[in-house]
Amino acid sequence: MRRKIIAGNWKMNGDGELVRRIAERAADAASGAELAVCPPFPLLAAAATQLPSGVRLGAQDVSEYEAGAYTGEVSGAMLREAGCRYAIVGHSERRTLYSEDNARVAGKYVAAQRAGLTPILCIGESLAERDAERTEAVVAEQLGAVFEAAGDRAFAEGVVAYEPVWAIGTGRTATPEQAQAVHAFVRQRVAERDTDSAEALPILYGGSMKADNAAELLAQPDVDGGLIGGASLDPEAFLAIHRAAT
Ligand code: G3H
Repeated sequence: MRRKIIAGNWKMNGDGELVRRIAERAADAASGAELAVCPPFPLLAAAATQLPSGVRLGAQDVSEYEAGAYTGEVSGAMLREAGCRYAIVGHSERRTLYSEDNARVAGKYVAAQRAGLTPILCIGESLAERDAERTEAVVAEQLGAVFEAAGDRAFAEGVVAYEPVWAIGTGRTATPEQAQAVHAFVRQRVAERDTDSAEALPILYGGSMKADNAAELLAQPDVDGGLIGGASLDPEAFLAIHRAAT
């Protein structure tokens, strides 16, 4: 049985009050799927103090470097010290708005693992790529860069989040069949390198997942949870998605 994970990516949203409200409600989520929260860096300390112990903490990004003159960057060791278990790498907003290419994302993936964090690797195609029937090629390239940097057992300690770019923040969700098809493809690509890690790898879906569409997405055999953006800012909606995964 693979573990199920519902992770909230707050992006550049939230404040101390939201940490407090999530922490209060999250006590009800002690059982069932794993619950994780990825607030902006300055809120990590408050979240680490206030969240119930079963709730995992994640960062939204991590530097590929260990330390040094990299103004504005945050290392994996710092995130570990701040109480993080996870670090998101390669979110499509980082790839498109900050020009992070596959090689840089793979560097971050490796840096997270080296620091003892579990990386959540975001992958997914744009609408133009889907229309051109390039979804599998794009996803394979994104995974390939990580294998190149981290070897065949790259996903023995990792999480993948399939996030079709056209579904992020648009209200347009992949159908359960579309999500399942890509998730199964991802697992098969990982299995070609290492069957054990493929079997155990949690593959999350992200892209306009809400309380009312979560259950059917999560019912797919290769959908092991969700990476939730907008709906994770509403504690009620976020915990309703968590219940759907349980
Ligand atoms: O990381 C989360 C994804 O970008 C999904 O965001 O739920 O607002 O579409 P969304």
